Amino acid sequence: MNPATDTTDAALGPRTVTVELGDRSYPIVIGNGLLARTADHLAPLARGRTMAIVTDEHVEAHLATLRGSLAAAGVTTEALVLPAGEATKSWAMLERVSDWLLRLGVERGDHVVALGGGVMGDLVGFACAILKRGCGFVQIPTTLLAQVDSSVGGKTAINTAAGKNLIGAFHQPALVLIDPGVLDTLPLRELRAGYAEVVKYGLIDDPDFFTWCEANGPALLAGDPAARLYAITHAVAAKARIVAADEHETNGTRALLNLGHTFGHALEAEAGFNGRLIHGEGVAAGICLAYRYSAGRGLCPPAAAERVAAHFRTVGLPDGLAASGITASGARLVDHMRHDKKMAAGTLPFLLTHGIGATYLDRTVNLADVERFLDTGGH
Ligand SMILES: NC(=O)c1ccc[n+]([C@@H]2O[C@H](COP(=O)([O-])OP(=O)(O)OC[C@H]3O[C@@H](n4cnc5c(N)ncnc54)[C@H](O)[C@@H]3O)[C@@H](O)[C@H]2O)c1
Ligand SMILES: [Zn+2]
Repeated sequence: MNPATDTTDAALGPRTVTVELGDRSYPIVIGNGLLARTADHLAPLARGRTMAIVTDEHVEAHLATLRGSLAAAGVTTEALVLPAGEATKSWAMLERVSDWLLRLGVERGDHVVALGGGVMGDLVGFACAILKRGCGFVQIPTTLLAQVDSSVGGKTAINTAAGKNLIGAFHQPALVLIDPGVLDTLPLRELRAGYAEVVKYGLIDDPDFFTWCEANGPALLAGDPAARLYAITHAVAAKARIVAADEHETNGTRALLNLGHTFGHALEAEAGFNGRLIHGEGVAAGICLAYRYSAGRGLCPPAAAERVAAHFRTVGLPDGLAASGITASGARLVDHMRHDKKMAAGTLPFLLTHGIGATYLDRTVNLADVERFLDTGGH
């Protein structure tokens, strides 16, 4: 049966994916309505102590559901509600969260809950990485991007004046709880942006999943529960495998997740991280650029690049440089790339492709060549 139209209990019931990291392995539990039953999973971690929850102002309705579930199980909670938005991943907010956790008397053996999108996960995860040299934490991601990408894998960070995610740590959560139902309140633009990261898994190494996306992406974005659950589970399983194979991004496996991100970050940086071009939109445009650049170098069939662009266009995501709305020169965009933290000894590793589901890491890309490619419109 087509997984996107299968609405049987077996297709929609909760499931668990494990991130295999030896004694730091942890489960990712995925299920519709899970938030209302959070206590089943969280109460054992509370060990009779008050649980600290950090969230943002757009997620307060879900905070109420979460607290209700814990209260019914006799778990007391304290909550800190921060301003929404990328600017919250800052030194100032890190200090605020850390001081609040210290005032509450959070101990190393406690588990702090990060409820929200990637901004909450990254900020709270980092605070937990350094609080008393490391306390436990749980991710309850509420955006599609966070559910399929940022909540899994233990990368945590804040932004600084020098750039995004430049200060951070690897710190794995003890548990990730994903309720796709919370996406019902997510604005469509944010849902679409997260969907770009879903498609990315197909393009990295799973052509059948890309074909599934072509057939079911529009239903997923329209809120189809079966499509949503299937895509999230599939994406999370892929991410868990990649993280288990290369936790600290040292052997090239985890780097594959950066497909489209070198181009995408340059576009985001040029847009100014102010909401004009959000991360997933930059990634969609960036993936199209990575495919077209690969096609231009004769590495990948031009038809594959066009197929990818057509899918992003169909679901309303930018399909390249023009659609991203960025008009900067190639030199300016390449300059943004030079500040990338992956830059090593003057070369920048690029994720290029031999076709759909055939992404590879290329360390021989000449930035002057990329500049020319962008100056001619990224075709
Ligand atoms: N750690 C990683 O591995 C990793 C991977 C990818 C991205 N990231 C980071 O993630 C961040 C982006 O994450 P994001 O896209 O989730 O952004 P976000 O956390 O800013 O969330 C996007 C918006 O949606 C709102 N929101 C969240 N859940 C909602 C819900 N259920 N209903 C209504 N509104 C809701 C938020 O308040 C915010 O306004 C970036 O900072 C990026 O660097 C980290
Ligand atoms: Zn991303």
